[in-house]
Amino acid sequence: MKKKLQYVLGLCLITIMFSCSNSDDGGTEQRLEPITAAFEATISTTDPNVLILNNTTTYEFDFTSSWDYGLGDPAVTDGPGNEMVRYATPGRYTITLTVTGEGVTDTATQEILVDINGICPDGVCSPVEPEVPLEPQVGLKDFADFSVGMAITLERLNIPQHAEVYRKDFNNLTAEFEMKMDIMHPTPTTFNFDAGDAIVAFAEANGMEVHGHTLIWHNEFALPNWVKNFSGTDAQFEAMVENYITTTLQHFKGKVRSWDLVNEAISDSRGNPLRNTEGNGLGSIFRQKMGPDYVKKCFQFARNADPDVKLFYNDYNMASSVSKRDAMFRLVDDLGDLIDGVGAQMHISFNSPSQSRIQQLVDGVVSRNLLLHFAELDVRVNTEGNASLAALSTPRAEAQKAKYKEVVEIYNAIPQANKFALTVWGLRDNETWLTDFWKVPEFPLMFNDNYTQKPAYDGFMEALTVD
Ligand code: XIL
Repeated sequence: MKKKLQYVLGLCLITIMFSCSNSDDGGTEQRLEPITAAFEATISTTDPNVLILNNTTTYEFDFTSSWDYGLGDPAVTDGPGNEMVRYATPGRYTITLTVTGEGVTDTATQEILVDINGICPDGVCSPVEPEVPLEPQVGLKDFADFSVGMAITLERLNIPQHAEVYRKDFNNLTAEFEMKMDIMHPTPTTFNFDAGDAIVAFAEANGMEVHGHTLIWHNEFALPNWVKNFSGTDAQFEAMVENYITTTLQHFKGKVRSWDLVNEAISDSRGNPLRNTEGNGLGSIFRQKMGPDYVKKCFQFARNADPDVKLFYNDYNMASSVSKRDAMFRLVDDLGDLIDGVGAQMHISFNSPSQSRIQQLVDGVVSRNLLLHFAELDVRVNTEGNASLAALSTPRAEAQKAKYKEVVEIYNAIPQANKFALTVWGLRDNETWLTDFWKVPEFPLMFNDNYTQKPAYDGFMEALTVD
């Protein structure tokens, strides 16, 4: 039991006299003034979500009080002093104070409103600022009349700083490994498109395209062991490949705009035949099992599965090696209408191949009325193979910038009908595949480790914007 008598002394006396006279007048044993619950609510000056509740009920006899703060919890007994209650979540709350004294009970209520800024003074919330749509960030993609592509991994799509740059500069995604055979067809009886689906979902949510990479690749990076050690007949192998291509293309139909259907089929050895039985991972199980026409067969399977998707043959060193370039054109010419475009991997160096070699390759693609994808662009700077190279020197960074600019200028100058995409193979220097590949430090991309733009980025941009 506790008593709150907060009146000043004079007021107390008057009240008591009044009570007494009541009692005398009525002649009853005791006539009580009805108890009137009352409280004050003040917003804390230090925390706008905290309400200070002051029970101002007065009564001439002992009384008890309890609070229901409107937060969905059971009522609590009023303690000494003021109550501090935190309203963390925006909403409408009714606070109820119940007081009971000498068998009579009264309640006082007050409704409060809470918005994102805290408790609204006098129940009036500040007008909610209309959500300002994020300023669309302007980047490379906004100055190009072709798709600007980026090699991504699903993991990096989920890193906010990566995603921010992806959205700003790029509008075409290529999975570095998640859409290769070892991931998509891990066992003879299973397919797994989860990672590819997640990449497609990111692209769709951000208005980007997805370039599928890559269905048929001899390389052990992407070849499942069960395919490498295939135990069935050649006919069964071919049926397996048809089923794999069909299942994959149908799964991604309408979601993936283009596929590198066959990757790196042409050997670097003399005469540039199709890879076949070479050792050291250089041969192709697909050529061995399906015969010299295997590339065409694969394109036909793909065409049957999805007549609309854009089909590419993708390979490297086709600017630097004239004989490889010509072998590629022979292969492509043989494919006729089955192929839509050529992916020219641009794993190049700051000083090679020359502008004219790149231009010759481009001219050959354009003259065939094929789409051209400058794929997998990265520009090596550590061509000396310096194992202790700690940073990119300013002159080398400028030379790299010039090469980026040259490549983009060449691409930008081709007829619109042949333009498709230019894809850079990674965002930051510290995530390039080349460091693993060459076993020396490399700095081949357009962004520093802290996401700032390198001169290479400016080279790309200048090629699009400066006459
Ligand atoms: C590389 C990826 O960058 C690596 O992350 C992966 O481990 C191996 O493959 N040519 C290609 C690409 O067509 O698929 C390769 O990508 C690089 C060479």
